[in-house]
Amino acid sequence: MCKVRCMVLFAIFAFATCGGYSGQLRVSVDCMEKAGSNLSIGIDFAYPFRLQQVSFEAPLCEAMRRERVFLIGDYSSSAEFFVTIAVFAFLYSLVATIVYILFHNKYRENNRGPLTDFVVTMVFSFMWLISSSAWAKALSDVKVVTDPDEVQLLISACKVQTNKCGSVHGARWSGLNTSVVFGFLNFVLWAGNIWFVFKETGWHKGASRIAGRASEKQAGTFNQQPYNQGSFDQSGSYNTQGNLGQLSEYSQVGGPTSYSNQM
Ligand SMILES: *[C@@H]1O[C@H](CO)[C@@H](O)[C@H](O)[C@H]1NC(C)=O
Repeated sequence: MCKVRCMVLFAIFAFATCGGYSGQLRVSVDCMEKAGSNLSIGIDFAYPFRLQQVSFEAPLCEAMRRERVFLIGDYSSSAEFFVTIAVFAFLYSLVATIVYILFHNKYRENNRGPLTDFVVTMVFSFMWLISSSAWAKALSDVKVVTDPDEVQLLISACKVQTNKCGSVHGARWSGLNTSVVFGFLNFVLWAGNIWFVFKETGWHKGASRIAGRASEKQAGTFNQQPYNQGSFDQSGSYNTQGNLGQLSEYSQVGGPTSYSNQM
């Protein structure tokens, strides 16, 4: 398991791939009067995807005149929410790791550290799910709005049959697709971690202490009667059972001393 390192790394991947994104699509407007044409109109957009602020100049196909065209939609709330959660999850997992390593005794004192960790981990799991879902939805909308075929519909000249409009290339989505995947991976990672953090809280300790005592007792019986295979079998949970079989065979050959040395 790469628990802590993955939590830190996956959070970085999530906000870096989303927050660091910039893309470009390119369309062409081929006017009937060739002079007015622009066969390579580049449209750049980036995080946080306030597409209503993204504009470009397109020919009107009327005596070299041009118009300014704006894209549609504001997807900044979902994108910023996602990046914010990712950044805070990154910071939290970093700080929690440092606190856990440096102040381990303080962390367990009064059980406040484990309890806080438990609650915060639950909240972050939930936030990862919500923000990843919101961002996945926003991304699918961004893909539609920035599709070159959709952008052509915004250009006045393209509504005239005699002019020909086309798409040169669309934006690359691999980075943003990755951010969504990492968003949901983070959710799985944090949700899975709830159990491990829960074990650190007092609620689990009672049960584990009883289980610990029981296994101690079984170990005691086993040590007192090393040759009694039956008492060992009762413990059941030992995964070295096969080894013991080999050991006791060995002890029959080598004698009791060599057997206890093996222990
Ligand atoms: C075509 O549009 C681009 C902007 O995407 C602009 O830089 C370029 O000058 C235009 N070309 C012509 C011939 O107007």
